[in-house]
Amino acid sequence: MCGIIGYCGHRPAVPLVVEGLRRLEYRGYDSAGVSFVAGGELSVIRAEGKLSSLERKLERQHVFTATSGMGHTRWATHGPPVERNAHPHLDHTGRLAIIHNGIIENYQEIKAELAQKGVEFRSDTDSEVLVNLISDCLEDVGGDVTRAISKALSLVEGAYAIVVMSADHPGTLWATRAASPLVMGVGTGENFLGSDIPAFLPYTRDVVFLEDGELVKITATTWEVLKTDTLAPVDKTVSRINWDVQAAEKGGFKHFMLKEIFEQPKVIRDCLLGRVDQQSGQVRLPELDGLPVPERLHIVACGTSYHAGLWGLYLLEKLAGIPVQVEIASEFRYRDPILPKNGVVLAISQSGETMDTMAGVKLAKSRGLPVIGLCNVVGSSISRESDYVVYSQAGPEISVASTKAMCSQLCALLLLTLYWGRRSGRLDTAQCTAILRGLQDMPRVLEDALPSLRAEAQRLARHYAEATSFLYLGRGPSYPLALEGALKLKEISYIHAEGYASGEMKHGPIALIDPRFPTFAMALDDEFFPKVKSNLVEVQARAGEIIALTNEGLDLAVEHPWFVPKAQAPLSAFVVLPALQLFAYEMADYLGKDVDQPRNLAKSVTVE
Ligand code: F6R
Repeated sequence: MCGIIGYCGHRPAVPLVVEGLRRLEYRGYDSAGVSFVAGGELSVIRAEGKLSSLERKLERQHVFTATSGMGHTRWATHGPPVERNAHPHLDHTGRLAIIHNGIIENYQEIKAELAQKGVEFRSDTDSEVLVNLISDCLEDVGGDVTRAISKALSLVEGAYAIVVMSADHPGTLWATRAASPLVMGVGTGENFLGSDIPAFLPYTRDVVFLEDGELVKITATTWEVLKTDTLAPVDKTVSRINWDVQAAEKGGFKHFMLKEIFEQPKVIRDCLLGRVDQQSGQVRLPELDGLPVPERLHIVACGTSYHAGLWGLYLLEKLAGIPVQVEIASEFRYRDPILPKNGVVLAISQSGETMDTMAGVKLAKSRGLPVIGLCNVVGSSISRESDYVVYSQAGPEISVASTKAMCSQLCALLLLTLYWGRRSGRLDTAQCTAILRGLQDMPRVLEDALPSLRAEAQRLARHYAEATSFLYLGRGPSYPLALEGALKLKEISYIHAEGYASGEMKHGPIALIDPRFPTFAMALDDEFFPKVKSNLVEVQARAGEIIALTNEGLDLAVEHPWFVPKAQAPLSAFVVLPALQLFAYEMADYLGKDVDQPRNLAKSVTVE
């Protein structure tokens, strides 16, 4: 989520680092900072907001002597986006600095232990805890930074990419990763570290991709990769990258949308980070512990976030036994909604800035109802206005069409369901654990499935490229996915599409069906299958062609069965969603549309 760059070489490090951060700007951020050693002292300079604020601060300092340094742009996950939470973070001695991307799940426990030893903390971050843990370990290993990092990380749970700098070794940087991106750039008389290749692309195209559990130590002229736990040397190959800067920003994908669709396995992992108690297998959402289980829930959202909310309704009612109403925010705000005192409002918004959703939040607050914000952007207006916030932890979404953010919203809604279902006693431990196991396994299932889903999406998009309208059908929790599939197709390919509850088709839309009007159905192996199947027979009776997202082994005869991995009931959404997104993507790309910036649309809708 955050941008990281490290440099050891022969050039002035700080301007190079800042320039590298600028190339990572497309990821979005809320604060930035750099550190370097000058005159034997570690300096850290940080600023809230845009990179230009940091640059203004740097102008006043003498920063040109250091030829090693590191920098970070933060996209907040812990603590508000203010300067004291910006990276780099120093340990309490001021001799060690860290930049960190990721989440340390057990940081509270470690923080408490270090506090007992007298360490004082200046920020709210897990990163400051980590640098102090490394510093604590330094004493046990005779001041050897490599061994101290290895020891500290053996005590840590979570995901991270870190770079560490020491005042005692000004020309050296250490870095390691676990489930967060980190690459090394190999130059001549200079070496680089980055969360992404664009960070150092103007200087070198020779890259070493670091794997989880590897630790690298670089100087201007040397680099070595070790196993983080045993410190055994690892042989690495240097790869030559032919991407230009734009392709590198997209991780080699043609569009941000495609990159973000393929990031969904990671999105699920990140959303789960720190939220599953590994011992009991239960959901932890401490941000909501102070709120009683809602007796009624009003979900308020727009667009894709609204579809996520509608999907949440099926789960929250069935599994957690909470009565739910889902409201389009622009309607909710101008109705005179009856909001019983025992109700809670859940506002879902990726950006956290959508004006209609914000108005819904204000309306609910004016009626005295507690509001939970389910947002992606930390510190956004809706997250600040809400009484409780759950972050979906999807990382910055750059494509205007929302994809990975919806995946993270579904994941967070499922976690909410399990959390409340357990607290109210509606779900037992075994039910909860079974669903959680399936969810934890989903990233692996998706990683395997995404390439073939894309190939099929490509084939189908070519086949139907001349269609001018599509009907998307789904039942039960697949109904909101039908709405989302239709929205994705129309917003990026400009092909008309309508999402319908399949049982509702015969009440009107069936009149549209003819051989030139294809239907895109969700016909999965679940309790709704027999009903969906009979709805599809009605389509076929009108000579309509059908694409059906379905599972192997079902008795379904349609023109284009599109088999997706079978997943137990609420989890099937996580494989259906990327298939729908990929179909829309491949269609828009084939038709030559501006996929990442469709006409007339904006990423945050801050107007009515
Ligand atoms: C569709 C899309 C929009 C947003 C909607 C709400 O791809 O991105 O429909 O979902 O504008 O935005 P947020 O979630 O930021 O409130």
